[in-house]
Amino acid sequence: MAEPKTAVNGDEITRGQLAELLNEDLSREYQAIISYVVYSQVLKGAEYMDIAAQLQIHAKQELDHALTISRQIDYLGKMPAVTSKPVRTSKEAREMLRFDLENENETVRNYRDRVRQCEALGEYAMAEQIRQILMQEQDHQIDLATALGEEVPDVLSSPKRRTAR
Ligand SMILES: [Fe+2]
Ligand SMILES: [Fe+2]
Repeated sequence: MAEPKTAVNGDEITRGQLAELLNEDLSREYQAIISYVVYSQVLKGAEYMDIAAQLQIHAKQELDHALTISRQIDYLGKMPAVTSKPVRTSKEAREMLRFDLENENETVRNYRDRVRQCEALGEYAMAEQIRQILMQEQDHQIDLATALGEEVPDVLSSPKRRTAR
């Protein structure tokens, strides 16, 4: 994806750039839907039964996020994206959960940026909708970190954005 011309670090972006970034978010939501649909069914082992049930709930929440985000993109006059970010698979339960956690970290980092960018554009209602999504994404992070027996990672929003996609 071509990065917007102005610094993504700054919160000052155009509405067109915001729509582009929301389309990236939407592709990330599709990725989350697909991975939770699959992982919730293929996770095996007594120790993973609780988290498998939680992943099934996550899958439905991610669908709601995708709907909310596409409504915002449409509101900005752009066409919502139809492609998912790539979904990684593994036969190993911990690795699956690790992929999910990494994706949620990336998602949280992005939505934190998005809230500020929406507010900088005076789009306060949109910022509020994204805040609601962000609350659930942070819950997803906690569920996954707990299942992995780890601390919830302290993800920073940009400027620590990775350049690789
Ligand atoms: Fe989501
Ligand atoms: Fe999530």
